[in-house]
Amino acid sequence: MSQSLVIAIDGPSASGKGTVAQLVAKCLGFAYLDSGALYRLTALAAKQQGVAWSDEVAVSEVASALDVEFIGERIVLAGADVSLGIRAEEIGSGASQVAALPMVRAALLQRQREFSTMCGLVADGRDMASFVFPAAQLKVFLTASAEVRAERRYKQLIGRGEKADLALITSDLQSRDDRDRQRTVAPLAQAHDAFLLETSNLSVDEAVTQVLSWWRARR
Ligand code: DC
Repeated sequence: MSQSLVIAIDGPSASGKGTVAQLVAKCLGFAYLDSGALYRLTALAAKQQGVAWSDEVAVSEVASALDVEFIGERIVLAGADVSLGIRAEEIGSGASQVAALPMVRAALLQRQREFSTMCGLVADGRDMASFVFPAAQLKVFLTASAEVRAERRYKQLIGRGEKADLALITSDLQSRDDRDRQRTVAPLAQAHDAFLLETSNLSVDEAVTQVLSWWRARR
């Protein structure tokens, strides 16, 4: 597996890492992996099949059998477009629950590594640098304060025409962060060799420029 052309961007929910990672991939002509989408797809598929999110064996079977296609920005699960469906808050919470199950993480590992190509990859998630692509050439831990992240998620939901309650979003983000940081397998943490990018006071363009300049310095 070639990991030399991999940029791993990890960080907490609503930190903006997805937006930054996609723009960096576009600028460099690299492929993009949204690993959180795979956990969200697993949670959604389990729900559709009546499998409880706590049933480790059954959910890992759902994860192994995911029939998913990434077509540009569209995500298609068993023939149905679920690009928006997997972004629902309930599915995000389910994703965080199934992501804490070691068998589920193992079931999704190879699928994530297959995104790595000779043309380069930007991968975003929680354990891209520490576990999935440990030999990535550039590792970034992208974060922002809890208040800024809650506001970003609030604006995102309102922008999509959904109802949003800032206090509820703040407490949901807090419990998701706690679960992602405290789980025993591949917890959310800054890898020892990752650059820290604190984006509370940065624009998206500034964050992208910083990642690109680290990348150029590495090449
Ligand atoms: O990045 P996101 O909000 O779409 O991720 C949804 C959930 O999936 C998140 O709560 C934690 C989990 N996740 C993970 O455990 N490991 C990853 N590499 C990506 C996401």
